[in-house]
Amino acid sequence: MTKPFIQDLVNDMTLDEKLAQLTQLGPHYWGLDDTVDLTGPFKELNIEPHIIHSIGSVLNGIGARNVIELQTRHLQNSRQRIPLLFMADVIHGYRTILPIPLAMGASFDLAACERFAAIAAKESAAAGIHVTFSPMTDLVRDPRWGRVMETSGEDPYLNALVTASMVRGYQGNDLRDKGRIAACVKHFAAYGAPEGGREYNTVDLSSGVLRDFYLPAYKAAVDAGVAMVMAAFNTVDRIPASGNKQLLRGILREEWGFGGVTIADFNSVNELIPHGAAHDGGEAAELSLAAGLDIEMMSTHYLAHGAELVEQGRLDAALIDEAVIRVLELKDALGLFDNPFKDADPQADEAAEPSGEHRQAARELAAGCVVLLKNDDEVLPLKRGMKIGLAGPFAASVNVLGGWSGTGQDSAVSLYSGLAQKNAAGDILTGMTGELGSMLEGIFDVADETEEAYSRLKDCDVILVAVGENQHDTGEGGSKSCLRLSPNQEKLIWRLKDTGKPVVTIVFSGRPLELKPVLEASDALVQAWFLGIESGNALADVLFGDYNPSGRLSMSFPYTVGQIPVYYNAYQTGRPYDPEYPQVRYVTRYLDCPNDPLFCFGYGLSYSSFAYSSFTVKRVDDEDHLIASVEVENTSNIAGKETVQLYIRDVSASVVRPVKELKGFRQLLLAPHEKQAVSFEITRDMLMFYGKDDQLIFEPGEFDIMIGRNSGDCSTERIWIG
Ligand code: GLC
Repeated sequence: MTKPFIQDLVNDMTLDEKLAQLTQLGPHYWGLDDTVDLTGPFKELNIEPHIIHSIGSVLNGIGARNVIELQTRHLQNSRQRIPLLFMADVIHGYRTILPIPLAMGASFDLAACERFAAIAAKESAAAGIHVTFSPMTDLVRDPRWGRVMETSGEDPYLNALVTASMVRGYQGNDLRDKGRIAACVKHFAAYGAPEGGREYNTVDLSSGVLRDFYLPAYKAAVDAGVAMVMAAFNTVDRIPASGNKQLLRGILREEWGFGGVTIADFNSVNELIPHGAAHDGGEAAELSLAAGLDIEMMSTHYLAHGAELVEQGRLDAALIDEAVIRVLELKDALGLFDNPFKDADPQADEAAEPSGEHRQAARELAAGCVVLLKNDDEVLPLKRGMKIGLAGPFAASVNVLGGWSGTGQDSAVSLYSGLAQKNAAGDILTGMTGELGSMLEGIFDVADETEEAYSRLKDCDVILVAVGENQHDTGEGGSKSCLRLSPNQEKLIWRLKDTGKPVVTIVFSGRPLELKPVLEASDALVQAWFLGIESGNALADVLFGDYNPSGRLSMSFPYTVGQIPVYYNAYQTGRPYDPEYPQVRYVTRYLDCPNDPLFCFGYGLSYSSFAYSSFTVKRVDDEDHLIASVEVENTSNIAGKETVQLYIRDVSASVVRPVKELKGFRQLLLAPHEKQAVSFEITRDMLMFYGKDDQLIFEPGEFDIMIGRNSGDCSTERIWIG
């Protein structure tokens, strides 16, 4: 029910004022320098000065002082004194830069994901931000795409849980509460599936694949009460999302009951034209408004053409009123009509240092994201007092915040700094570090390094080599066709292997890289992602065993880029490959590489060792209520966290089903030699899927119930479920 004061405002608005309320511009239109780089193709827009005073929201105008200044000026000129909404890209922290979301997905820790968002919300609110364009929950299967860093991975179930946790962390129970901001889930829908992994490329999926894999996490955000949804750049079934009525009205509003605000992506209404979906700006505005896209971001076709569309009878004015009401309701939900500055707090926002509490939280969150991929002969954990060699371009780099790290105001703790603080009693000798150049190449060449550096490292007990990709080669516009480390870095790792000393390869990246070429040269292999401001301390905690690594991959690491897309929950095929018969040709396979990724979804090692036993699947009271159980023992002398995973396979159905689907996980904290039983309830609604006519259905039949430590290592029991 619309509040009377909101209805009165809308009734009093002119059509131009309504269309301005549905327009979002950058802060420079109000005379402020651009505080954050614009994120898309930009051209000057002709905006009448008087219209500026009716604009509804601001893109990336951040900083408490900026917001107070801009809001004050605006209210002085706004005829109806309707406050501006300030929206920004806070993707993994605002002042305290936190691990990238792909790393948070690998934590499998939902409480951590909620804490991640709550910290970002508190700092953003103090900076005057009302809405963050986060969580990004686009399901991804192609690490060539630069934006895999921004999402939680390849699984719809995990993505849905992480997304809902982040929405709760940002929004809390009431948007008016101090330190809470509105969340905007994005990019609706399926932006993570561009052909070839090439940024902004065509997305073409069947409705079944869309519903099985790509839509669930957005729906989880809606069910968690997300305030906004951002439309994607890409087409969905040949219609750009920003003008796609079936998507924005049919699925989002009518099927899912979303009542919040939808917003275009940067210039995406205008991009209906180059897509070839609209002849001109008028048709673009007509398509988007008819589709139920409320706010146009950084293009002004609503403003320029909205009135004529209504006059010509091409657009029902009621649709504009509906959109304006939703925008005003969001402003009211944030309390902006009572306090247009909300939590803007220059003193807090301009503090010399991020808070100690947030730094500590960043360190803990980051440690939980690190994934131990290999640890031969227990090279790790390191022992204090060791003589440690440290090589590679990330040895002392602070460029480990990751893309979308906002103002990037505070540099990160480097690996070297983190190690030095821990190993005061020992030595850390650096050498053969060089600098990581832009794009892919380190500017050093192994041959250029002095023999002295090499011999210095050779004299150490263990050699850490910190490698990876430039953080600016990830994120938006960061698609790459080659996922290997640069040739210099691969040569360095093999050169250090020649020392005969244990080599620990530490990989800094925003995506799964192709690590097979350096796997054998690495006695231990650590995926360090981009962990944010406390990166070095968190890695030192893990490397010295003060934090026992517990991360599990939320996205497959390919054996080779030629396998892509490679992901665990693929549909069953008519000619499955059978590893028992590797010589058979006419099955689904490559001649020159395995089908399996190098490291699969859910994989990760620990300093502990865990033994699984007593796996059972029992019916409870009726045909379709089961309990799957297993016992997990920590057979080591080191306390550790194990993520026990439940997968199911629908063996045969009216449409082909995946070879396995994650349907549950439990994180067990096990003391040395402690054994715990864990059980998962399996109910019919967990086994439902979208049938031929896109309806959610359950079909009786045989199901494989699987429990294990990762998607490639499970115990299985086949059972009939009626
Ligand atoms: C960008 C991104 C989107 C971001 C928006 C505003 O192009 O696609 O994720 O929120 O523009 O900066």
